[in-house]
Amino acid sequence: MARKWSKRKRPDRDKHMIMEVSQRKGGIFNERTMRFLSKFYNKGIVERVAFIISTGKEADVYAAESGSSEAVKSDLVALKFFRGEGISFNKMREYIEGDPRFGNLRSSRTSIVEIWCRKEFGNLVLAGEAGASVPKPYMFNGNILAMEFIGDENDAPSKRMKDVVLDDPKKVLKSIIDQIKRMYRAGLVHADLSEFNILIQGEKQKPVIIDIGQGVVIRHPRAKEFLERDVHNIARYFSQKYGIESNEKDILDGLTRPSLS
Ligand SMILES: Nc1ncnc2c1ncn2[C@@H]1O[C@H](COP(=O)(O)OP(=O)(O)OP(=O)(O)O)[C@@H](O)[C@H]1O
Ligand SMILES: [Mg+2]
Repeated sequence: MARKWSKRKRPDRDKHMIMEVSQRKGGIFNERTMRFLSKFYNKGIVERVAFIISTGKEADVYAAESGSSEAVKSDLVALKFFRGEGISFNKMREYIEGDPRFGNLRSSRTSIVEIWCRKEFGNLVLAGEAGASVPKPYMFNGNILAMEFIGDENDAPSKRMKDVVLDDPKKVLKSIIDQIKRMYRAGLVHADLSEFNILIQGEKQKPVIIDIGQGVVIRHPRAKEFLERDVHNIARYFSQKYGIESNEKDILDGLTRPSLS
């Protein structure tokens, strides 16, 4: 995979490149976002925006060349830009409001998008510490999150599980259930787990769980419902695509709650 640039002297941050991207893309790189982005350059997390990985309703994800920060170990970084529009405001509130980490919720649309971004960062930290396989989070600012780029040979972004035929689906299923368990033990429920939010990395087909912004702590009033839905989505997918049947109740019974002190 990506080898780290030899920290050789590169040109000063290349605003040119970003402007180019900004013109191509229109709306997303507005002045406010550009201001947020400059901090990623100043901290040496990214050097320049390289290519678009995905444009969606809720977020645009770009690959960027990494900067000089020692925190970043590979050539590329994934930058997720949360969009204000397209997101159901009420849906976001629902996932944020029951979460004790986000008590003081203001109601402007911009701020809720930024809270969402901070929440994904916090959830990635929590999941990573629990040993779940998620991209390593580097930093967030405003509506932008920088994290480990999940990629394959030649820096191609890894594909979503829905677009891959698995060589050993049983092994991947087992690994995904293990990730759910690890996150739960750390007090976290993904709450949007499906074949769309799992990347399959490399020849070994390692599942990496992404898009964890809506993840809730298990104290959230709907955490149990979200957990059951996550397990159901995964069980359904492996049953329909690979004919592997799972006992959802056994999976749920096998989860250990963290001791709430
Ligand atoms: N760390 C990463 N490394 C490589 N690719 C990534 C990474 N994070 C996200 N992607 C790619 O970007 C896509 C969208 O990311 P994500 O699922 O986090 O956003 P989203 O909120 O679902 O956005 P939308 O549904 O609006 O497309 C993913 O399906 C994946 O292809
Ligand atoms: Mg997604």
